[in-house]
Amino acid sequence: MAMMERSLTMELVRVTEAAAIASARWMGFGKKDEADGAATEAMRKVFDTIPMRGTVVIGEGEMDEAPMLYIGERLGLGYMPELDVAVDPLEGTNIVAKGLWNALSVVAVADRGCLLHAPDMYMDKIAVGPKAVGLVDLDAPVVDNLKAVARASGKDMDDLVAVVLDRPRHAKLIEEIRNAGARIKLIPDGDVAAAIHTGFPDTGVDILFGSGGAPEGVLAAVALKCLGGEILGRLMPENEEQVQRCLKMGISDPNKVLRMDDLVKGDDAIFAATGVTDGELLKGVRYQGNLAKTHSVVMRAKTGTVRFMEGTHRLEKKPNLVL
Ligand code: FBP
Repeated sequence: MAMMERSLTMELVRVTEAAAIASARWMGFGKKDEADGAATEAMRKVFDTIPMRGTVVIGEGEMDEAPMLYIGERLGLGYMPELDVAVDPLEGTNIVAKGLWNALSVVAVADRGCLLHAPDMYMDKIAVGPKAVGLVDLDAPVVDNLKAVARASGKDMDDLVAVVLDRPRHAKLIEEIRNAGARIKLIPDGDVAAAIHTGFPDTGVDILFGSGGAPEGVLAAVALKCLGGEILGRLMPENEEQVQRCLKMGISDPNKVLRMDDLVKGDDAIFAATGVTDGELLKGVRYQGNLAKTHSVVMRAKTGTVRFMEGTHRLEKKPNLVL
């Protein structure tokens, strides 16, 4: 298996920076598709400058829908390592449309064959930081998971903060968390950011519960692998067609609990994200005339190195955003 080059970390930040700069221009305009399209186009362009042989395994859609960054699309200059690439050029399209918190541009790579080809459907998830690894269980009562996290982190139950997507489907889950006595942050969108926050104690987030996109679950898994945290997932096919889609993607038992090694195989992977709007971890893009400032995080599973990077970009010198 080809080994990933560590210099790839820097290259991937260039990809997410470009997508964030293009997308953040749409903040508050109420146009989520335009914000997403701008991110995707900018991201696509920068990939063509990177020395790698990537194949999109999580992307913007199936090839027959003809989007950019479609599943199966080849990326990179065509030499160096063969990689699986997972992208979410804009994670939180509605967030940007409304100018809310925690929209990110996200990329993850791993050696070829190592990322789960997650179908576009819901996944039930629990994510925790390093202290609670191995202590939570998707089938355990909510209160037991919360008690385990409290014990592991030396906190009382009412110190804890659980993050949950604010959706009617989570009404029972929210009630159970409240009954257990933990506090809750209900988010409008963006469960990749929320999952990552569990790996950074300063964000004040202890655990993510609930269902969100399965592709987003794989992206979060790469980040948590780098951070030493954990996400558990279970696909939630809603009809026979979705069951068939799981089988087609090579997932023989769609009901199986997917653990870290199912989501991201091997010991190496790289995750990069740039803030599009402000969040607990990353600042959003700032523009001033011909300058754009970005705030990114990039991390690598093999070494566990986590880097925060601030970029100042002179847009007049990079009109095509190939940064
Ligand atoms: P988009 O960026 O595709 O709009 O996704 C945002 C998001 O909130 C994800 O973070 C989350 O996994 C998923 O949508 C939840 O889906 P739904 O809005 O159907 O509950």
